[in-house]
Order: sequence, then C-alpha cells, then structure tokens
Amino acid sequence: MKAISAGALLAIAGAASAQVTPEQAERVVDTRQSVLTLMAWNISPLGGMARDRIPFDAERVATNAERILALSKMLPDAFAPDTRGTGVKTDALDLIWEDADAFAEKLRANEEAAAALVEVAGSGDEAAMREAIGRLGSTCGSCHDDFKAD
Ligand code: HEC
Repeated sequence: MKAISAGALLAIAGAASAQVTPEQAERVVDTRQSVLTLMAWNISPLGGMARDRIPFDAERVATNAERILALSKMLPDAFAPDTRGTGVKTDALDLIWEDADAFAEKLRANEEAAAALVEVAGSGDEAAMREAIGRLGSTCGSCHDDFKAD
C-alpha cells in the first residue's frame, strides 16, 4: 500500500471542510498571498541573474532554490480551502476550485521546476542553472495566465 503524505492528508482535510467563513477567508487569503510574496522575493534575484542584470552567484541560486522548493510545497495546502463567494478581496479565480485537476497540474509543474533547479544548483553548471531558472519562472506565469485575475 502506498503511504499518503502529510501534505496530501491536509489537502484532503482542506477539501473536505470545503467552504470557509468570511473571517476564515481573510486569514486564508493573507497566508496564501504571503507564501506567493515570499516566492517572488526569492526568485526575483535569480531572474535578475538569468537576465544579466546582476552578477551570477551560484551560492545564492542554491539557497533561494531550496527556499522556493519549500514554498512551492506549501501552495497546495494554501489553496485547499475554497474561498469562493466569501467576498474576500483576492485575485484567485473561481476556476481554481472549478477545475481542480488543471490547477493541481500547475502546482505540480511549479514544484517539479523548483526541484529541478535545486538539482542543478549543486552542479556548478551555470548554463543549466540559467535554463532551470527560466523554466521555473515560466511555471509562475503559466498558472497566473489561467488562474489569477490581472
Ligand atoms: C498554481 C498556480 C500558481 C503558481 C504556480 C504561482 N502562482 Fe503566483 N499567484 C497565483 C494566484 C491564484 C494568485 C492570486 C492570489 C490571491 O490574490 O489570493 C497569485 C498571486 C501572486 C502574487 C501576488 C501576491 C499578493 O500579495 O497579492 C505574487 C507576487 C506571485 N503570485 C508570485 C508568484 C511567483 C514568483 C511564482 C513562481 C515562483 C508563482 N507566483 C507561482 C497562482 C500561482
């Protein structure tokens, strides 16, 4: 029998509790946006390096890649509570819960790209790191295109 991860159990618990109250929704959205703000904070210098706006720093890439991977693993739990119709101010589109499979696919792509960056960050291969940073960044944009209000 396959073991179920704590993350999966939490996601199931989140899905089972379905709708949250407007008070809970404020906290849920705050937490969700905080995780995403931290992701942006950590990927921002890597994007600068990939575009040659700041000097390439392999150690910084490795440190921030680990952080982004940890944060990407929090996203499924952060989006598990269904905040549709609670009136809370959010850019999260209803489609996240209407097309949960497509959204889960975006989450998976993001985590995989973060794990791939962690992998190459230890290799010292700068070209591979640059490519992996680009691929990770495109998983952010790809989810925003479909699931985030502009
Ligand atoms: C699986 C989908 C998904 C992925 C992957 C994703 N985001 Fe987002 N992001 C969203 C959604 C949905 C929102 C809107 C959240 C809200 O307003 O409640 C958002 C909001 C944000 C915000 C605004 C937060 C705020 O305070 O309002 C930032 C910054 C952000 N994302 C950065 C990133 C970065 C950087 C990455 C990649 C490293 C990323 N996101 C990956 C879906 C995603």
